[in-house]
Amino acid sequence: MADREKDAHSGVETTGHEWDGIKELDNPLPRWWLILFYICIAVAVVYWVLMPAWPTLNGYTHGILNQSDRANVAKDMKDLAVKRGHQGVILEKASLEQIEQDPNLQAYAMASGQAVFGDNCAPCHGAGGGGGKGYANLRDDVWLWGGGLADIQRTLTYGIRSGDPDARVSMMPSFGRDALLKPQQVDDLTEYVVALSHRKANPASVARAAPVFAEQCAACHGADGKGQQAVGAPNLTDADWLYGGDRKSIHDQIWFGRGGVMPAWRTRLTEAQIKAVTVYVHVNSGGSGVTAAPPTAPAADNTSVSDAAK
Ligand code: HEC
Ligand code: HEC
Repeated sequence: MADREKDAHSGVETTGHEWDGIKELDNPLPRWWLILFYICIAVAVVYWVLMPAWPTLNGYTHGILNQSDRANVAKDMKDLAVKRGHQGVILEKASLEQIEQDPNLQAYAMASGQAVFGDNCAPCHGAGGGGGKGYANLRDDVWLWGGGLADIQRTLTYGIRSGDPDARVSMMPSFGRDALLKPQQVDDLTEYVVALSHRKANPASVARAAPVFAEQCAACHGADGKGQQAVGAPNLTDADWLYGGDRKSIHDQIWFGRGGVMPAWRTRLTEAQIKAVTVYVHVNSGGSGVTAAPPTAPAADNTSVSDAAK
């Protein structure tokens, strides 16, 4: 360690530190830097006084302004709830028809229905409501249980085979698995259903199946196979299929007699939410008797089984 000395070249005193012959000059800090440094300290002190800053043993210093982002968010949420609650109350009081016909109410119901749909229904029915194998397509005007406003509201409120005492229920028997019919009869009925939907089928099978259909199937699907919404039995004569229109899918359904389950929503959504999503589904399906504005939701982007079978 050498002694402090004057640097001959710059005339500045050294600090006395020296490494391998390199000596450190004792230059003062630049004035602008020092001023900035003191301003920062001053700002920090003012900030500690005004704003929450220091942790203490049982909390923190709140600052004179008592500012809290958490409290601000809570207040915003409360304001929103009051605003929504107000419209929710209107939805609860108005009838479904009134909501659909009043442009303001309909716009509100569509917006809130779309949110409810995205959160609760899209996982099963698809983001656009286009459905999929076993999951009803909600964007067309083909209905298992009815597409009027009141029908949809009832389906949503109590569910389908949901276990709710007021749920929509009906069970197609497992004709093959439970040996109610012989395998040959199930094969024949498959051909019969293919023929019902206006496609080429084996005429001998169709002839053999006709009396069996009248006896075993007509009670639910109708003598003409056009279905019955009272028991959720689909129309078998169109190109719209819940489980698929190919022979294997039809055979499987007659063999196993599957029944789709949809939860009851009255335990999960408010009455206003159910009304909003009812209107949303009804309007988007182009449902019976819709007079008001066209749907605002994006078009179905997922192809449903029924569409694929067309
Ligand atoms: C867990 C899956 C699931 C969820 C979630 C779900 N659904 Fe369903 N939904 C189904 C199934 C399965 C069917 C067909 C039931 C059947 O085969 O009869 C169905 C049928 C329907 C029907 C009757 C269609 C018709 O043709 O009559 C409507 C309307 C409906 N759903 C609307 C909704 C709405 C609105 C929501 C959200 C609040 C929703 N679903 C949530 C599974 C679901
Ligand atoms: C007790 C009423 C009932 C009887 C009897 C019945 N079905 Fe069904 N069938 C239904 C219901 C309900 C569905 C829809 C199941 C669902 O929604 O998951 C259905 C669905 C079907 C489907 C599927 C349609 C599609 O869109 O994918 C076929 C095919 C079918 N039935 C054929 C038959 C045949 C053939 C018989 C007679 C052997 C028969 N059903 C007897 C109630 C019945």
